[in-house]
Amino acid sequence: MNTLTINNLNLTYKNGFQAIKDFSLNIENGMFGLLGPNGAGKSSLMKTIVGLQKPTSGTIIFKEIDVSENPDHIKQNLGFLPQDFGVYPKVSAYDLLQHIAILKGIANSSERKNQILNLLEKVNLSDFKNKEVHTFSGGMRQRFGVAQALLGNPKIIIVDEPTAGLDPEERNRFNSLLNEISNDVIVILSTHLVEDVRNLCSEVAIINKGNLLTKGNPTELISELENKIWSKPIEKEQLENYQSNYKIISQQLIERELYITAFSEQPLSDFTAVHPSLEHVYFHTLTQKP
Ligand SMILES: Nc1ncnc2c1ncn2[C@@H]1O[C@H](COP(=O)(O)OP(=O)(O)O)[C@@H](O)[C@H]1O
Ligand SMILES: [Mg+2]
Repeated sequence: MNTLTINNLNLTYKNGFQAIKDFSLNIENGMFGLLGPNGAGKSSLMKTIVGLQKPTSGTIIFKEIDVSENPDHIKQNLGFLPQDFGVYPKVSAYDLLQHIAILKGIANSSERKNQILNLLEKVNLSDFKNKEVHTFSGGMRQRFGVAQALLGNPKIIIVDEPTAGLDPEERNRFNSLLNEISNDVIVILSTHLVEDVRNLCSEVAIINKGNLLTKGNPTELISELENKIWSKPIEKEQLENYQSNYKIISQQLIERELYITAFSEQPLSDFTAVHPSLEHVYFHTLTQKP
């Protein structure tokens, strides 16, 4: 079992902005979702975990070894797909993987070749191995990004908003790939897409404005909201009134009709009970603790 333990982690940038406020998390094998809106601090946290920036205080411990004391230990076991991978030079997919493999210290050339060919197969890019990566579509680039992250058989894989910009089919294919690789390693997936977390992750942390708001198993978090979510179609003009009298967690246009969703421990007359979803957990969490 691989474990990543984060204790009381704080990160303040040079300009004085605090992007991570006292995070403590324990992450084990399987897929862990880091869910939060834009600007929540997801990339800041991921860059800190992989050692690209030092925390202001707190510790990150990977397999019982403190990352700040021994940064090479996590680096040797890490695959990272940053939000802005951005490196698409005019070289073939094969040659770029070759180059990255050497940087990762895979010294034996036949071992390197084996890994590269296997990974290209795994991410469904074998037919394109001699094509230059800058000609790849968004989906192909992300799958290439996974291949480079998997070089060297990492024990912890960190992917930052990997499905942003992918079309629905590419997104499904990419998510199946993540699901496949997450069996006996830690995969940390950051996203603002609730659905991706619901489909893929056995654990989730919801973050906003640098705060860790809630964490747990998605199904359990959802069941805590059973019989507490209520919905109702209203007129646009009534919205403000409802907002001041109820705990409105979201509003949504459905076939041009405005529906509000409210949180309440007690039944609300004139509202319809709704089965809770992870989206309700997300909106409820964000509105409860702004
Ligand atoms: N290098 C930096 N210096 C100062 N502030 C930063 C820096 N990087 C990010 N931030 C700020 O930290 C907050 C969190 O950003 P980020 O971690 O990128 O969020 P997310 O990935 O969840 O969208 C944002 O308000 C952002 O403007
Ligand atoms: Mg980000």
